[in-house]
Amino acid sequence: MSGQAGKLRVAVVFGGRSAEHSISCISAGAVLAALDPDRYEAIPVGITRDGGWVLPDPGLRLEIVDGVLPEVTGGTPVTLVGDPAFRGLLPLAGDEPRTELDVVFPVLHGAYGEDGTIQGLLEMSGLPYVGSGVFASAASMDKEFTKKLLAAAGLSQGEHVVLRDASGALRADPGLLDDAARERLGLPVFVKPSRAGSSIGISRVTDWAQFPEAVAVAAAVDPKVIVEAAVPGREIECGVLTGPDGGTPRASLPAEIRLRPGTDWYDFTAKYLEDAAEFDVPAGLTQAQTRAVQEAAVRAYLALDCAGLARVDFFLGVGPDGAERLVVNEVNTMPGFTPISMFPRMWAVTGVGFAELVDHLLAAAPAVHGARDRPAVDRDARA
Ligand SMILES: Nc1ncnc2c1ncn2[C@@H]1O[C@H](COP(=O)(O)OP(=O)(O)O)[C@@H](O)[C@H]1O
Ligand SMILES: [Mg+2]
Repeated sequence: MSGQAGKLRVAVVFGGRSAEHSISCISAGAVLAALDPDRYEAIPVGITRDGGWVLPDPGLRLEIVDGVLPEVTGGTPVTLVGDPAFRGLLPLAGDEPRTELDVVFPVLHGAYGEDGTIQGLLEMSGLPYVGSGVFASAASMDKEFTKKLLAAAGLSQGEHVVLRDASGALRADPGLLDDAARERLGLPVFVKPSRAGSSIGISRVTDWAQFPEAVAVAAAVDPKVIVEAAVPGREIECGVLTGPDGGTPRASLPAEIRLRPGTDWYDFTAKYLEDAAEFDVPAGLTQAQTRAVQEAAVRAYLALDCAGLARVDFFLGVGPDGAERLVVNEVNTMPGFTPISMFPRMWAVTGVGFAELVDHLLAAAPAVHGARDRPAVDRDARA
């Protein structure tokens, strides 16, 4: 081990280039606070909004202070070395020593955090890390491929259409969808950027006259746009956690997001700014419904080749045939990890506390992303 007196040295990486920068900082603050100082040596590593890696200034508080969201701004610039001989962080200037690491917990959400890109760098660095690998991260971030893989695993999907190069398609034909497609989808539809999060760029369209504008809004976030039929039903979430040593995953008790009357859907404002939702943790479901949600959550996790953890989000409603229908909406490979986030709360009511969750994920990391195909590197020969 690299840390002091045999402690495991854990880099907790947070911030980053996505719109969820501050949420990531708060999640990381909670993870850092949960690491037992007798067993871990924690190295906080910030990524600024423009992508710079720093060992943050010691004054940085990873919580909301006087209503101001935390943000990574300054610190000592470092880089994560994509060379397994180094396994750690190198200072970009000055004569600070390099920081060798044992494991990395990328507590990052959205683009460059949850989409396979940092996972690729971590693979190259030879370091074990918490969470899904390159493929599962990229596939779960992209709503088109999430749907394709879930459908292949027999998990029911709502009607949807994928618009590639949506801006170009909009210029060529402002109507975009023919009558048959409109008929099949019905109204309302949800128009979404394929790769985004936090409801950014999403519109709920109740009149086809609003549709071109909604596509333009989504296309400004991602050139690939998904148009989905509205799926009626309750919004249910479920946490999935790897077994020890990367073994058989298990599901938490599900939770429900109940929007207050007058709120049509869980948009950015409802998520972060207004008190527009109530959370039932656990959800008020029958035993059979709970089991069905848990079973589908584990199937979705496996279908996308997830590792470590995931939060699987569902709609639970009634299908056209009158039978109960469970539809997976999306899979988040690095769900919110703040003390009030759904993922840790669902695990808490399932009997796994916050610190135990973090311990479990760190302990499983080497098995999940261990020495796969990696010959041992003689560090001394090159260091
Ligand atoms: N097909 C749909 N039917 C009904 N509501 C939807 C649908 N798609 C999205 N929503 C609503 O929009 C919210 C955000 O959509 P989601 O796909 O989860 O985007 P994000 O990845 O940004 O969280 C959901 O939580 C839900 O309230
Ligand atoms: Mg969502």
